[in-house]
Amino acid sequence: MRTKHLVAIKDLSTEEILEIFHWARKLKGRWAQGIRERALEGKVVGMIFEKSSMRTRVSFEVAVLQLSGHSIYLDRDSIGLGVRETIKDVARVMSRYVDGIVVRTFEHHVVKDLARYSTVPVINGLSDYLHPCQGLSDLFTIQERFGSLEGLRVAFVGDGNNVARSLATACVKLGVHFAIASPAGYVLDAPFVSRLQKLAARTGASTRHLRDPVKAVRGANVIYTDVWTSMGQEDEAEQRRKAFSRYRVTRELVSAAGNGAVVMHCLPAHRGDEITDEVMDGPFSIVYEQAENRLHVQKAILRLLLAPPASSGPAVSPSAGSTPSVRDPDEPTER
Ligand code: CP
Ligand code: NVA
Repeated sequence: MRTKHLVAIKDLSTEEILEIFHWARKLKGRWAQGIRERALEGKVVGMIFEKSSMRTRVSFEVAVLQLSGHSIYLDRDSIGLGVRETIKDVARVMSRYVDGIVVRTFEHHVVKDLARYSTVPVINGLSDYLHPCQGLSDLFTIQERFGSLEGLRVAFVGDGNNVARSLATACVKLGVHFAIASPAGYVLDAPFVSRLQKLAARTGASTRHLRDPVKAVRGANVIYTDVWTSMGQEDEAEQRRKAFSRYRVTRELVSAAGNGAVVMHCLPAHRGDEITDEVMDGPFSIVYEQAENRLHVQKAILRLLLAPPASSGPAVSPSAGSTPSVRDPDEPTER
């Protein structure tokens, strides 16, 4: 991989995404066969988590362990990022101790600043703006499920949030059609939409931004949702519950998609709000396969960034090989 850090999916070329998927498939298969990798032997990953996490924390810690490395968990209070000392100093000093940094934080600029001053790879484990490890794992899961990404349609129902942005970028980079239905006031931000549309024009993917969840899911292969209130927005929960009441993934909404649609959710889910129990536990739900793949995709990311294989050239995926290569040097910087 030419990219040193994983801050945003927009920084990855299509080939780099396919290379991550190639390694995720390979490492998943090898682990299942009982083959143990030692790629991170002697390496240490610092894990800075300023917000709660189950999947990201556990899957990264297990990923590092399964690759024979070691991780150190640092919570908000113990490190005081930008409070006890500057982000620049944390990045410069930690780079002298560890071989990679995973960070989950609030403001997106914290991830960017860490990456700017760190001499070791920085991986974004979620910011208020983006969740790239989630978006990559999700497209890996979709490819695994359908065998090919070609011609697929993904519909996101809900808030134009961090998960929606990373999912949209991953879809568009891989030529997958993306639709989103959100209530007024909770749509994807205009600068992001403009970048997404430029990118889509180059990859042949389409993007649709709608109010009506039924229109968004019609003909979709994947229906995706996330919580109405993200971490850090708890004060807005009541207001959001009202605004999003029509944006619930129910059995009726799944039926509107047509045959064969699957349902995804990054989790944690607020059952009864954005998704019903019946859908979460029903036959169309692939949420647990999706959660499992966080582990395999993050192992691939760690492998490629922290212990790049000698011949880590672009991997060719037969299923997405026709998608043109896209890198975005001209994109404005995200918040
Ligand atoms: N999907 C996800 O990132 O879950 P956690 O918040 O539990 O890490
Ligand atoms: N949008 C959610 C995702 C959690 C994985 C949040 O930021 O809280």
